[in-house]
Amino acid sequence: MKTNVPRIIAVSSGKGGVGKTNFVTNIALIFKSMQKKVLLMDADIGLSNIDIMFGIAPKYNIKHLLSGEKTIKDIIVSSSQGVDIIPASSGIRELTQLSLEQKMKILTELENLDKDYDIFLIDTGAGISDNVTFFCSAAHDNVIILNSEPTSIADAYALIKVLYREYGEKNFRIVINSVRNLKEAKDTFRKISLVTERFLGITLDYLGALPYDEKIKEAIIMQKPYTALFPTSDFSKKLRDIAKEILHREVNLLKGGMQFFLKRAMQVG
Ligand SMILES: Nc1ncnc2c1ncn2[C@@H]1O[C@H](COP(=O)(O)OP(=O)(O)OP(=O)(O)O)[C@@H](O)[C@H]1O
Ligand SMILES: [Mg+2]
Repeated sequence: MKTNVPRIIAVSSGKGGVGKTNFVTNIALIFKSMQKKVLLMDADIGLSNIDIMFGIAPKYNIKHLLSGEKTIKDIIVSSSQGVDIIPASSGIRELTQLSLEQKMKILTELENLDKDYDIFLIDTGAGISDNVTFFCSAAHDNVIILNSEPTSIADAYALIKVLYREYGEKNFRIVINSVRNLKEAKDTFRKISLVTERFLGITLDYLGALPYDEKIKEAIIMQKPYTALFPTSDFSKKLRDIAKEILHREVNLLKGGMQFFLKRAMQVG
């Protein structure tokens, strides 16, 4: 059992379909291979995907936690790769907008697990809904994924703007996904940095870029995590570099978790 608090990492993107779920699934495995105890939460609560990525069929999910039928420990499933998962429900529309009471319940239950994990990874889902901003605001690290498409850049900026204006969040760690070369990654980072610096006064933290790789689709179709199938590929190597970059960044323990969320919620009103 561990004694320090886990690092809470929320992964979001604004625009859908840019690679969040693939990123969290695989970086979870990488952290695990670095001897970290990892809990991965599927916080795309109305549309679960993590279970499919790992090829598991959980009996219980977050719905059973929120209804009080099960505790967090009852709903956690362990993947064969040694990553623990909190599964989301699928097709339950009322969970796409959690009430304050439901949010508090999730945070309280998560805090009961504090000592068991080094890293909580949260796949927040697409968009800038209240559910997404809630999980981002309760995290230590906000990782934003985008690709080079102008729509992805615009939506990542929109998310950053909302998190800054509504929650005072200023630290964003950027991953550029599906790039064909380093220039594409650098150009994309420059474009988003330009607008966050000019309009919000925010300097972004560049974590790295991940190459476009056809085999990612193959892995998803096989329902096996990509890095387990192709551990020596360029994508896996770059993802390991990104995992190391994250661990090199200092954790700001003054933020993250229940106390912090409550404070922010009260400030926001
Ligand atoms: N680096 C990459 N190279 C090639 N394909 C990729 C890459 N990253 C993700 N994909 C593909 O993009 C699609 C979307 O990925 P994923 O489901 O991870 O996105 P998402 O951001 O979680 O989507 P959503 O917003 O719907 O939850 C998948 O089909 C996946 O195979
Ligand atoms: Mg997803």
